[in-house]
Amino acid sequence: MFPSTCAVCVSLLLPAAVLAQYNLVKEYSGETFFDGWSFYGNRDNLTNGNVNFLDDTDAFHNNLAFVNDAGNAIMKVDNSSTLKFNQNRNSIRISSSDQFTVGSVWVADILHVPYGCSVWGAFWSSAPAWPLGGEIDTFEAVNQDARGHMGLHTNPGCTHSSNAVQSSTLINSTDCSIQANSNQGCIITNPDPASYGEAFAKAGGGVYVTEFAIDGISIWFFNRTDLPSSLQGNVSSIDTSTLGIPVANWPADDCSVNEFFQPQELVFDITLCGDYAGAASVFYQTCTGVCYNDWVLGDPSNYDTAYFEVSYVRVYGQPGELTVIQPSGGPRSAEVRSFGTLMLALGSLFAMFWTL
Ligand SMILES: *[C@@H]1O[C@H](CO)[C@@H](O)[C@H](O)[C@H]1NC(C)=O
Ligand SMILES: *[C@@H]1O[C@H](CO)[C@@H](O)[C@H](O)[C@H]1NC(C)=O
Ligand SMILES: *[C@@H]1O[C@H](CO)[C@@H](O)[C@H](O)[C@H]1NC(C)=O
Ligand SMILES: *[C@@H]1O[C@H](CO)[C@@H](O)[C@H](O)[C@H]1NC(C)=O
Ligand SMILES: *[C@@H]1O[C@H](CO)[C@@H](O)[C@H](O)[C@H]1NC(C)=O
Repeated sequence: MFPSTCAVCVSLLLPAAVLAQYNLVKEYSGETFFDGWSFYGNRDNLTNGNVNFLDDTDAFHNNLAFVNDAGNAIMKVDNSSTLKFNQNRNSIRISSSDQFTVGSVWVADILHVPYGCSVWGAFWSSAPAWPLGGEIDTFEAVNQDARGHMGLHTNPGCTHSSNAVQSSTLINSTDCSIQANSNQGCIITNPDPASYGEAFAKAGGGVYVTEFAIDGISIWFFNRTDLPSSLQGNVSSIDTSTLGIPVANWPADDCSVNEFFQPQELVFDITLCGDYAGAASVFYQTCTGVCYNDWVLGDPSNYDTAYFEVSYVRVYGQPGELTVIQPSGGPRSAEVRSFGTLMLALGSLFAMFWTL
């Protein structure tokens, strides 16, 4: 006879359920969208693209980063300057100052993604010590690709599991190691024909949900017409178990999230040509000419569609967990400013007493 407490024994043998409920911890939107991001402020020495990623001052001054009349954040490539040989085109790369741990979900509502020959745009995340700590590409596409794709890049040992529960059957590669296939990553293509380019923009864009969980990494994509009510409006919490099957899923069984991933900073960037969009084997799949000479140096109107328009990025964390890491490095610029203003005020007060 079994003791009556054995119901407990059975439940102890079952793996602990992973929470799918997350609460809002951070929102980037509207007039304050660009608060809490670092602008790269250097030429693209990361992927060898033909761009200068502007610092915040130049980006705002040149109107390559701004909030439009609809309240959406625009990040764009310079489409007004004619360049001379050897010059790079100005563009944007921003990364979040905060990092988000395992047990986070980020949701991005995007109306327009950059596209066109030579263009390589992405919304992604990585650990600062990349490749240690991994990279999660939520949206990436180049040139005149038909669709966007998703992927992971890690140290060797992480692969896309055959146990993945996902809706996309377009699996391009399964080894996530940066050392495999020239750092192709483990790539899954978004089957939605409106996941990139003009089709994405015409469909009103869509919402990407990226879940960074201990039992695996998952990405959902919903186009505007298919957006579930649980993602509409100013949502203060989300439950990923209600979102249905993700479009891409990398379960932890073949890629231990704890082993290969560390807290992630979010990144938007648009580069031109470079290691991926400009690689001959990739470029000539959908474009003609010479990437730098004919496109970057060509008519600036080549870049009229090379911009992100983002309604918001929201980050959610598991309740009761510290999921937002603010790396040390002193107070944020806004706090520095108000501290400075306080000192000035105190200074003038002091000067007033001095002269009295
Ligand atoms: C890129 O250039 C910046 C500024 O010169 C430098 O600090 C950084 O280490 C460089 N990064 C790489 C990967 O070369
Ligand atoms: C991935 O596979 C799809 C379907 O076979 C193909 O259309 C696409 O070009 C591939 N993408 C990449 C990045 O290799
Ligand atoms: C939007 O998503 C739905 C469901 O995945 C799909 O049937 C439809 O074709 C998509 N619409 C566009 C414009 O791609
Ligand atoms: C959404 O709600 C959060 C608090 O739950 C608030 O901080 C934020 O400003 C709201 N955003 C909008 C666009 O109303
Ligand atoms: C640049 O592109 C924007 C759309 O992104 C467009 O409104 C503008 O007319 C284009 N041309 C110039 C010279 O800015």
